[in-house]
Amino acid sequence: MTKHILINNKIENFNERIIVGPDKSISIRSILLASQAVGTSKISNLLESEDVINTLKAIKLLGINYKKYNKVYHIEGFGLNGFNIKKNITINAGNSGTLARLILGMLVKSKTKVRLIGDKSLSKRDFSRVIKPLKLFGVNIKSKNNCLPIEITGTNFLRPITYNENIGSAQVKSCIILSSLNTPGTTIINSKKSRNHTELMLKSFKYPIKIQKGKKFDKISVEGLRQFKAFKYNVPGDISSAAFFIVLTLLSRKSKMIIKNVNINPSRMGILTILNKMGAQIKIKNNYVYNGEKVGDIHVKSVKNLSSINCPSNLNSSAIDEFLIIFLVSAKAKGISKFRDLGEMNKKESKRLDLGIKFLKLIGIKVERNKDNIKIYGKPNLFLKDNFEMKNFLKDHRIFFLSCITALTLGGKWKIHDKDAINTSFPNFIKILKRIGAKIN
Ligand code: S3P
Repeated sequence: MTKHILINNKIENFNERIIVGPDKSISIRSILLASQAVGTSKISNLLESEDVINTLKAIKLLGINYKKYNKVYHIEGFGLNGFNIKKNITINAGNSGTLARLILGMLVKSKTKVRLIGDKSLSKRDFSRVIKPLKLFGVNIKSKNNCLPIEITGTNFLRPITYNENIGSAQVKSCIILSSLNTPGTTIINSKKSRNHTELMLKSFKYPIKIQKGKKFDKISVEGLRQFKAFKYNVPGDISSAAFFIVLTLLSRKSKMIIKNVNINPSRMGILTILNKMGAQIKIKNNYVYNGEKVGDIHVKSVKNLSSINCPSNLNSSAIDEFLIIFLVSAKAKGISKFRDLGEMNKKESKRLDLGIKFLKLIGIKVERNKDNIKIYGKPNLFLKDNFEMKNFLKDHRIFFLSCITALTLGGKWKIHDKDAINTSFPNFIKILKRIGAKIN
């Protein structure tokens, strides 16, 4: 039985200070890199969501022990490829594309065959984007039509590669970086800009990785076979989770919010750039740098008059997980918002471009689509009264969050299925909403 929630009322005005869940990308990377470090790494404020728990289970299957003491995860690494893999293991990445793609990069030297599977949503996603570079490294990898299940067997004869990563995918880039750690020589990636947490982490651990920043691409050079020591990491808040509360505040009446301690890495800041261009006045205060990552408090307040945006596609990668909620803001903005080249949205946990458009139409918004480009005809006076039911969205967490924020800001009577979807990235989502006054049954 799928669980559902009911929302029948908009949220009343609020003035709140909240903390959102820890960053998912950084949580997953901190575990994976700890499993490759020499000694016991200590990770605090780790996101305890399904994607991250599956990452912990995965390293355990690879022979890496961890324990939780007083809210801190202690992970015992034995250095690069320091795994102890039993025969016939199957790693289940669940819903997580990040775990699935990154862990393949850590198995390039494994002597044993490892099988990788995932849930219904992940099993529909394309893995050719990582299979191609992995084969160039010399890895033996088998799949059916480039989808899960995948079987990977590493090799002792890895060769460094030079790879042009043209998608702008941090998962692909990170898979290659992780592969290069076990590969002799220098691996070079000409990578279209995407989130750079893997590079920043390795740099902060003093690993020999060089990044030459270009306008659209970065040239990343990684020396293989260098060990790095165990580390301490305190994971900051997730801007992708904060995004839903930012928009909740923006679209509510006379409300204010401070979101404490959020990762504000420039490669993730597309949402703030886009919303500020649309007339929001979101500010960042108390910022500092931690292990190479910028962290700060986000201050946001309600805005009456939002304007449409002609969104430059060079912001796509830095807002890739936030477009659904940006579409909602466009629905309330004056004028026609334009977005281009959003094909990657359809490669996520669900076909988010298709579903996002369907969602906008459901709430009475005109949308025109031409291939992967869309125009959203905003209605500043949009308020909802009807009954709405959300189901069959492949349990995509971000579609669930979008539906809740729509119900709480635009009204209507909503039945939203698959409540468990929140466990993928933000298990406290409903708890925080209720604390600031949302009525959810
Ligand atoms: C992620 C990268 C992005 C993003 C995903 C998390 C990561 O995917 O959509 O939610 O942690 O590297 P792509 O790299 O496929 O764009």
